[in-house]
Amino acid sequence: MKEEILILDFGSQYTQLIARRVRELDVYSEIYPYDIGIEKIKEIAPKGIILSGGPSSVLSKDAPTISREIYELGIPILGICYGMQLTSKIFGGIVEKSVYREYGKSVIKIVKDSPIFSEVKNESIVWMSHGDSVLKLPEGFEKIASSKDCEFVAAHNLSKQIYLVQFHPEVIHTEEGKKILSNFVFKISKAQSTWNMENFLENEIKYLKEKCSGKKVVLGVSGGVDSTTLAVLAHKALGDNVVSIFVNNGLLRLDEDKEVLHNLRERLGLNVKYIDASKIFLAKLKRIVCPEKKRKIIGKTFIKVFYSGLKDFDYLIQGTLYPDVIESNSVKGPSQTIKTHHNRVKEILKMEKQGRIIEPFKFLFKDEVRKVAKLLDIPDDILNRHPFPGPGLAVRVIGDITEDRLNILRKADKIFIDELKRTGFYDKVWQAFAVFLPVKSVGVMGDERAYGNVIALRAITSLDGMTANWAELPHSLLDDVANRIIREIKEVNRVVYDITSKPPATIEWE
Ligand code: XMP
Repeated sequence: MKEEILILDFGSQYTQLIARRVRELDVYSEIYPYDIGIEKIKEIAPKGIILSGGPSSVLSKDAPTISREIYELGIPILGICYGMQLTSKIFGGIVEKSVYREYGKSVIKIVKDSPIFSEVKNESIVWMSHGDSVLKLPEGFEKIASSKDCEFVAAHNLSKQIYLVQFHPEVIHTEEGKKILSNFVFKISKAQSTWNMENFLENEIKYLKEKCSGKKVVLGVSGGVDSTTLAVLAHKALGDNVVSIFVNNGLLRLDEDKEVLHNLRERLGLNVKYIDASKIFLAKLKRIVCPEKKRKIIGKTFIKVFYSGLKDFDYLIQGTLYPDVIESNSVKGPSQTIKTHHNRVKEILKMEKQGRIIEPFKFLFKDEVRKVAKLLDIPDDILNRHPFPGPGLAVRVIGDITEDRLNILRKADKIFIDELKRTGFYDKVWQAFAVFLPVKSVGVMGDERAYGNVIALRAITSLDGMTANWAELPHSLLDDVANRIIREIKEVNRVVYDITSKPPATIEWE
């Protein structure tokens, strides 16, 4: 049997987290829609199956379900939240709407020994998020934990190797969550730790060599962590047969084009083709104010420019990550929407049909790509670069984009970032940048009335960009940045600091 834990997704916002937590135990795990069918599961032959939570109620008539036969395969099963309720219902238990929707922290008490709770504290904090509860367990199942508001917080059926928990072990707030998942993966499913980035890298290089040796291969680079790691990996396997294409869209930061080219060519030894398309992009963005329009124009223009640089090549390597793949296949209940990712445009789909697309990272999470980058000796200053959005400064010049505005913003952003680096705060925040506001404000500079531009500074702390807090930077640092901006950029007479978190605000202003 393969050393894999299979996750059947019922649409929980936490499904990705389950996969990440299992992989943190160095065991491979993959997410599939709940309805992949028993034949596919048999083919995968996982060591264990986890049923995720989900937004549906097992009480509704079109609730997502699975075949009872899956429980008879002899593969251990862990049902989380919806997975617990569904299993209880399938085996003849009673599930009811709870009086209170239980959301947030709760304390559970273990009432019976179970392998799933091996070496777990008798009382611990867990994270709950459910509207339905199991009222009566099915025959053959025993209660193993309860809480003040929920009698059946966890249960097991030892002979069938089925374990059920109402709470979310994958969420960081569940104190013993990691231990519980580790018990399921190792003690119950008997999986081995064979998933690590050293093996991944070795296999991927071997695969690329076998598939692409002597062929012409292209990929796109931006200077960010993912694409740089991809380019270094491909170069390691195929040498100068790989051409990395770097497009300057005119929306990069001060001297970023030179810096990225220097990093890629001189420091990492890559074969880079540089396309300066800044004039084309800026012409298309003239007088465009709407952020979504800006994004669409930039996306479309990028594809055009990128493909014009692609002549007679055999394979295109893309940096698609696992979350993009999950996003495209995910279960979203009745109103299923499939995001059109830029890696899935018409041209790509055509090449895909021809078997000319390779996506080495399509089963990796971002933190795993960082581990690969470390193994490839990519220097820390590249590895620790803050994320930078594809549309670049276009979404940081609010409103109309002009060369003048871009230049003011570039100077302000550079000052802010330099000061963060000088004081050691760059690595302490997740992302930081300046924003150009399309308003003018009155000031007094020297003895004269000034009517100048406003720059907003934004710095946030975050784990994944999904939620964020504004960073509490020292006042003296903000003061130094503001003073430098006013002194060094004559068009600016006011600097403000953004103190909104996400939600309600987004990280970018547009
Ligand atoms: P928001 O503004 O949505 O940003 O809170 C979350 C993260 O995503 C980045 N971002 C983008 N990245 N294309 C990208 O490649 C985009 O259109 C885009 N919009 C936002 C943002 O910088 C932050 O890291």
